[in-house]
Amino acid sequence: MQIEFPHYFLWGAATSSYQTEGGNLNSDWSDWEKSRKLQPAADACKHYQQFPQDFQLASDLGLKALRFSIEWSRICPRPGEVCQRELSHYKAVIKSLKDNGLKPFLTLHHFTNPRWFAHSGGWLNSKNIDYFLQYLSVTAQALKEDVDYWLIFNEPLVYLFNGYIKGIWPPGKTSLPIAIRAFKNIISAYKTGYWEIKNICKHNPSVAQVSLAKHMIAFSPCPNSKLGGLSAALRDKLFNTSLCAYLKKNKCLDFLALNYYYKEYTKFSGPLGEECSHKHKERKNYLGWNIYPQGLYQMLIRSKKLNLPIMITENGTAEESSEMYQDYMVKHLKAIADAIADGVDVRGYFWWSLIDNFEWDKGFEPRFGLAHVDYSTFARKLKPFAFRYAKICKENMMTYD
Ligand code: BGC
Repeated sequence: MQIEFPHYFLWGAATSSYQTEGGNLNSDWSDWEKSRKLQPAADACKHYQQFPQDFQLASDLGLKALRFSIEWSRICPRPGEVCQRELSHYKAVIKSLKDNGLKPFLTLHHFTNPRWFAHSGGWLNSKNIDYFLQYLSVTAQALKEDVDYWLIFNEPLVYLFNGYIKGIWPPGKTSLPIAIRAFKNIISAYKTGYWEIKNICKHNPSVAQVSLAKHMIAFSPCPNSKLGGLSAALRDKLFNTSLCAYLKKNKCLDFLALNYYYKEYTKFSGPLGEECSHKHKERKNYLGWNIYPQGLYQMLIRSKKLNLPIMITENGTAEESSEMYQDYMVKHLKAIADAIADGVDVRGYFWWSLIDNFEWDKGFEPRFGLAHVDYSTFARKLKPFAFRYAKICKENMMTYD
């Protein structure tokens, strides 16, 4: 079967600064690695130096867009201070993207904060919101002519869940009321930031499109849990749907930026429920995630009611064999094509990730890249499944058996 994608479909890949650049020692994550004795990001993929080659690679694959993030701790090394040299660096990054025919999708906050921000209470201190807005504003001023797509936050609920409820990411809190306080400040920063970007970019020929990347999980009741259905429904509402519906209602969401990876079985245990670790029928990837392409179709169909254009800003996997990467990719693209055929306005797809990189508390072992990174030489080498992706991107079409 041959599946054609719409002519305007944007094929891309995604990265983030902390996971790829290296040398981000002024960030709260750097301190966290030390305090928890985690594998440090250190030089990561040396993308800070090697970005021209990486973008050349993306262009050779036939990609037309690249999602990346800016490191706040580089732009604002101290409270109220702006580093022009780092702004120029990101200007050069964007120029290189454009020279390679890649449309920039810029993320301002991808899980990391400057150390000084964390030390003054981070997202728990409402007075700190202005620091983030200052960073947003100087960055938007500097890059407004070159960027049409802005993502203010990456997966705020994942950030809050891991950092404020589970305590496995900085700042290592484990309290729902505290998480709610941080949530309020983040959403307030988002809403003000949205209008700030709109305002700064208002004279540009193309109107800035502003959003946040929203992670969605296909929640399913664990068959062994009595109230599993209730827990799955609650989690779905809390985690997947309510935030974007709220932002849309408040007229500050221009498109849905959807990140989707897997299915999670839940059991009932308090208001948030809990992931259940029983063996389930789905194939597992390297990280033990339940692979469930149908979930992406379901999320897309359901998102139709938001009545917004949709970009899949992350989808990908870590595997041990190229066949498994390919299997994952092709099945998820089929799910997207089915959703498009059923009337969903999906405009693009970004594979996570362009290159293998630093997977947070899991270190460098899980490999999500289209290109393998040799961490001793920093050489990149395309994995076999990347050639399949390149063919799909270049032909805007996929053969599916
Ligand atoms: C995050 C990435 C992460 C990826 C794979 C996404 O939710 O945005 O930073 O590497 O998942 O776990």
